[in-house]
Amino acid sequence: MKTALVTGASSGIGYEMSRVLSHLGYELILVARREDRLLELQKVLETHSEIVLCDLSKEDECKELYKKVKEKDISVLINNAGFGLCGNFTETDLDKELSMINVNIKAVHILTKLFLKDFVKKDDGYILNVASSAGLMAGGPLMATYYATKAYVVDLTRAVNTELADMGSNVYVGALCPGPVDTEFSEVADVKFEMKGISKKYCAKYALYNMFENRKMIIVPSAEMKLSVCASRLMPTRPLLEITKLIQKKKQS
Ligand SMILES: NC(=O)c1ccc[n+]([C@@H]2O[C@H](COP(=O)([O-])OP(=O)(O)OC[C@H]3O[C@@H](n4cnc5c(N)ncnc54)[C@H](OP(=O)(O)O)[C@@H]3O)[C@@H](O)[C@H]2O)c1
Repeated sequence: MKTALVTGASSGIGYEMSRVLSHLGYELILVARREDRLLELQKVLETHSEIVLCDLSKEDECKELYKKVKEKDISVLINNAGFGLCGNFTETDLDKELSMINVNIKAVHILTKLFLKDFVKKDDGYILNVASSAGLMAGGPLMATYYATKAYVVDLTRAVNTELADMGSNVYVGALCPGPVDTEFSEVADVKFEMKGISKKYCAKYALYNMFENRKMIIVPSAEMKLSVCASRLMPTRPLLEITKLIQKKKQS
């Protein structure tokens, strides 16, 4: 039986990805901090699943997670857990930002490295890092740390994907880069999206289809967002930063 591990499975995109993977026949390892949510998810899954409670902001818990599950012959890793924070960089809370860096960057880095080594040995496996279209922009004034964490995830993913191609490896590493998605993200980050978000169900299905079927390195799941990303590439950095700042300003509740 094939097994997939999903971080941040207790809500939003991770919850829906777990449902899609289960429908595709994968057994699941569900990772997050809120056990009640994971127990609810377990009830609606079509395949066997296990819960591992883990605070991914803690390096030792990330390493412990890998040790706990490494014998389970996992073939799909979805590094999805993450959160954002809005505000002027001089005013945002340092501890929250360090925790964000730990979850959005360090945990993704640790788990990608540890699982990738196993996947490369067996020349099989998929790693999908949930970044954001924020990671494809020039920077994110008023959400500076969040944008920077997602740029790290995009850059790391692109580089590792290229190394794997160079090795002739069958292992897939890609990044999901959505724009707004209807989840609890905005509540946690304390923002209001201007743009209407896509549904988490659509986002999860689109991401997994493009991972399994098209093996796309960067997955952007909406035409509107694809257009924004293309336009941003044609624009000089300073005006692009100004536009991003205006968008973020409107988001602040
Ligand atoms: N929604 C959007 O508009 C959007 C757009 C682009 C990218 N993304 C990215 O998509 C990913 C999923 O976010 P979402 O939109 O689905 O938001 P969400 O509904 O708030 O879900 C976030 C998930 O991350 C988990 N998580 C957060 N901190 C954690 C920690 N310290 N340890 C373990 N798990 C932790 C949460 O689980 P617990 O709280 O139970 O631990 C939850 O399951 C994130 O990486 C986010 O940056 C979201």
